[in-house]
Amino acid sequence: MMAEPSDNPFRAGLARERTPGPCVLVLFGCRGDLARRKIVPALGRLAQHGLLPPSFALLGVGRVELSDEAFREEMRPSLEKSGASDEVAAGLLSTFHYRQFDTSSEDGAASLKERLDEIDRSHGTGGNRLFYLSTPPSAFEPIVRRLDEYRKLCAGEPGSQRIIVEKPFGRDLSSARELNRTLLGVFDESEVYRIDHYLGKETVQNLLVLRFANAIFEPLWNRRYIDHVQISVSESLGVEGRGGYYEESGALRDMIQNHLLQLLCLVAMEPPAALDAEAIRDERRKVLRSIRPLTTAEVPLVTVRGQYGKGSIDGRPVPGYREEESVADDSRTETYAALRLDVDNWRWAGVPFFLRTGKRLPKKVSEVSIHFKDIPHRLFDDGGGRDAWNANVLSLRIQPDEGVSLRFGTKVPGFDIRIRPVKMDFQYGTSFGTAPPEAYERLVLDALIGDPTLFIRGDVAEEAWKLVMPILEVWENTPPDYPNYAAGSFGPAAADEMLERDDCTWRRL
Ligand code: BG6
Repeated sequence: MMAEPSDNPFRAGLARERTPGPCVLVLFGCRGDLARRKIVPALGRLAQHGLLPPSFALLGVGRVELSDEAFREEMRPSLEKSGASDEVAAGLLSTFHYRQFDTSSEDGAASLKERLDEIDRSHGTGGNRLFYLSTPPSAFEPIVRRLDEYRKLCAGEPGSQRIIVEKPFGRDLSSARELNRTLLGVFDESEVYRIDHYLGKETVQNLLVLRFANAIFEPLWNRRYIDHVQISVSESLGVEGRGGYYEESGALRDMIQNHLLQLLCLVAMEPPAALDAEAIRDERRKVLRSIRPLTTAEVPLVTVRGQYGKGSIDGRPVPGYREEESVADDSRTETYAALRLDVDNWRWAGVPFFLRTGKRLPKKVSEVSIHFKDIPHRLFDDGGGRDAWNANVLSLRIQPDEGVSLRFGTKVPGFDIRIRPVKMDFQYGTSFGTAPPEAYERLVLDALIGDPTLFIRGDVAEEAWKLVMPILEVWENTPPDYPNYAAGSFGPAAADEMLERDDCTWRRL
């Protein structure tokens, strides 16, 4: 049974969450993995919490012919898993419709319009549309071209139209620019919602609250007190049947260009002038523009790539990446990437930001850790190592065991002075008694409402690509020595050596 927001005393008195207006969600790629695993369950949870508008419908769009009933049956298991009650799930399913749509068909736009007009009449959705591109990226452009025709057919009619675009947003700077051009030829930037699901995570949003709703952290949040920052997204899973996609992508494109750089932005950004979408997105962009671009000569010194060979995770043997389905025997795709970046501005000059992510590491953990500088003078000399003295680390646990912990040195009880690091811990689960909402729940709700704060603006996507381009180019032109880490280990030794050059070590996850 899902906890209701009002069940918890910590949440009592909080303003009722916002509810969107009437809308049809037009889901392209409605039978795909993402729709089943994330989008439809998110709708189930929103419905359960009473956050979908009374006038709501979903139009699933796909290539094959399918009746509404058959589509509903296909979607039923995803709703059942969402935690929505039987009654809520049945009510929501009755708003699901399906339309076969062929982007090459001449009358695609007109027949889509006809179907949506019908839905407006039966569900009272008033001409409001949220298109959702959850297809492989190769389909984005043909769909957007048809949506252009569709919009022309609707010109002058009431209703709003927005579009959510799933990742990957391009595979390099030029394809991202091209995709932006295509989208912005049809939609206004304010109507485009580019997904980075990390921004929808509760703990990621808490980064700004922690920084800007508390007086104690921000005075220390700069080069005078912070030694370095680590951002780690470790995954124990491999590519899970997505070898075909991953071969074209790799860790740098799949994770660093988007999720990890966005986390960096939230750690490093200045307080926004206001809590509105553009002010916040402007600040995120400023961080990306302040990151020192890497030269070709620097890339081998401040980046590390890896690919896992066979090994074991939780005592279970797992194959190497090259043995995975749809992966080439001599694949050059990296399943691990680590970088050292500098943010060249007044706040951060001289503070390295270390980023790492990898598949088939020992566990799934995402964490941002802020490592504070050493004390200036040692009053107590207990013979303890640097670990005891350099104790102050603020760690923001994004998942799992979501929470925040602060490490500091403490006297070990006894008659002499010995210092050991201890932790002060906050955990969402125990404090609020409820699991944080899923990222997709938040993002779908925001797009329905029309709040783009947690989405990527077009210029921000391009800035992020600019930063990874030199790395992609050097990596593509230098043959790697793969596999170079065993599944179940914390990545290649070269990643440890990279930190040692700055007299740092990766935090144990
Ligand atoms: C996706 C990547 O964007 O994020 C996947 O394509 C990755 O490869 C996933 O596994 C990780 O997301 P999360 O929310 O499980 O950390």
